[in-house]
Amino acid sequence: MSDRYCVFGHPIGHSKSPQIHTAFAAQSADTMTYTAIEAPKDDFAGAWREFVAAGGRGANVTVPFKEDAFRLCEELSPRARRAGAVNTLVLGKDGRTFGDTTDGIGLVRDLQYHGVILAGARVLVLGAGGAVRGVIEPLLAEGPAEVMIANRTAEKAAGLATDFAALNDGQTRLHGGGFDAVTGPFDVVVNGTSASLGGDLPPLPDDLFAPGATAYDMMYGAKPTVFLVWASERGARPVDGLGMLVEQAAESFYQWRQRRPDTAPVREMLRQALT
Ligand code: ATR
Repeated sequence: MSDRYCVFGHPIGHSKSPQIHTAFAAQSADTMTYTAIEAPKDDFAGAWREFVAAGGRGANVTVPFKEDAFRLCEELSPRARRAGAVNTLVLGKDGRTFGDTTDGIGLVRDLQYHGVILAGARVLVLGAGGAVRGVIEPLLAEGPAEVMIANRTAEKAAGLATDFAALNDGQTRLHGGGFDAVTGPFDVVVNGTSASLGGDLPPLPDDLFAPGATAYDMMYGAKPTVFLVWASERGARPVDGLGMLVEQAAESFYQWRQRRPDTAPVREMLRQALT
């Protein structure tokens, strides 16, 4: 029987993960299978146990189960422990469940793919929810000059900055606050709020972007997000989160199969399917 993997979510119908991992596997004629499973909201641990009993070796975890997955792990990567969330489960040879979070590394790799140099950069991150918590550590590891976290609820942004202060090597100015405390210009602005596909944008200054700045939205769609349209009008280069999705998947795949897939053709395939 070939090794089984899956993505757990609720709902899960529109997940692109099966397509992505099936494409990664095909690159090396790997016979693993990867499916989407809608786990019951009140028994994520049961769904994982059942999957393992049926030959499951690993899984991705998406909304709303990332904290449930975190809680069931017998072993965690340091970054997952700090993020308080798990998007990748790996069944160890000893039967223990290991958890990691690859979203942040996905963001950093996608920024690098687009030629963004994070070392020494001024970075603004909008939002302070679970999505942002997962990316702060890998961003800090790249040695930016500044990471400001700005959020509608200022205290949440300040709290997040405090939570990660111990990881900061002192070279990065890590701080958080409300949108009114934002003063540009920034080299990279990452939108991690859920207010990007529609609705109102956070109130931000018009001179947010340094020359050559990149505006990154963790969301993506067939059309540019409201945030990316706004950013383009102010001279920033827009990049959506499709590549982050592919890169976080690639890191999960690597942990399961010990092979780094080629992400470029898979990015291209997904982009084509969006239009
Ligand atoms: P996720 O897991 O996607 O991060 P979340 O934890 O619910 O979801 O966080 C949502 C984020 O989007 C929060 O930072 C939220 O701001 P608050 O902490 O002030 O609630 C932000 N957000 C949602 N709607 C927003 C809006 N209309 N304008 C600005 N920020 C918004």
